[in-house]
Amino acid sequence: MLNASTRDVPAGTMIGIESEGKSVLIANIGGKYYAINNICTHMGCTLSNGTLKGNQVQCPCHGSTFDVTTGGLVHGPAKKPEPSYKVTVEDENITVDVP
Ligand code: FES
Repeated sequence: MLNASTRDVPAGTMIGIESEGKSVLIANIGGKYYAINNICTHMGCTLSNGTLKGNQVQCPCHGSTFDVTTGGLVHGPAKKPEPSYKVTVEDENITVDVP
């Protein structure tokens, strides 16, 4: 379980949080929160240091792009999608279910 506050993720933004060796990207797309693995499946750069446009995050290193709502690969050079995680929001608390 990873936790964050909705105050730290205004609509149209993303953050990276780390806990227990996991790095997770949380994005707010139009008031809905989504979480995917924050480590690029290409060569391991941190996706939350990249750019978020609409529902797509672009890796800062070589430009791989993922859909933050599903973890799906939009385009490479990465070849694999990112795992996506279940997000629960209660009041201001965001909880990410990381297995
Ligand atoms: S490490 Fe992300 S595109 Fe290469």
